[in-house]
Amino acid sequence: MNRRDFHRLGTKALGALVKLTVALPAAAFLLNPLRKASPAGADAPVFEGLVPLSQLKVGVPQSFGVVRDQVDAWVKYPKEPAGSVWLVRQPDGAEPPVIAYSAECPHLGCAINLAGDAKSFICPCHTSAFALDGTPQNHVPPRPMDRLDVELSDDADPEVRVRFQRFRTLAEEKIPLA
Ligand code: FES
Repeated sequence: MNRRDFHRLGTKALGALVKLTVALPAAAFLLNPLRKASPAGADAPVFEGLVPLSQLKVGVPQSFGVVRDQVDAWVKYPKEPAGSVWLVRQPDGAEPPVIAYSAECPHLGCAINLAGDAKSFICPCHTSAFALDGTPQNHVPPRPMDRLDVELSDDADPEVRVRFQRFRTLAEEKIPLA
């Protein structure tokens, strides 16, 4: 191999290396499992177990955090807080046996608290107030507190499961966020 051949070979090798440098990250991006299309309905909110029914007192709102895996375009974050809910157990025989509300204020999204006398809900940010059935008690919130779907497991002491989701703030209608 003469000097010219050696130089040509080196140039080709360098070109191939540059192409690989560009192609490998692109291939990794395209093959990333997070980019794969979800099966139909896989992104829909799912029921999440929060508490055994026996631990709820009738008529007493109790707050529970919702923790779930969070996924963005690149990263899966295992067990991140997703929000919180208020559960209100209903008297025996009532249907549904538990009512769940999102704790996110429909005004601008602050966390709704229980009032000091435990007879209503309040939002500290702009004084939204709600009755225990979620109806607005003043003109600040654009709609009632957002109710969430609830189901009970088949266990002897059923687990209360809530389909947690978030809704658009400042809207009079309850519009789910994707
Ligand atoms: S965010 Fe709750 S009153 Fe404004």
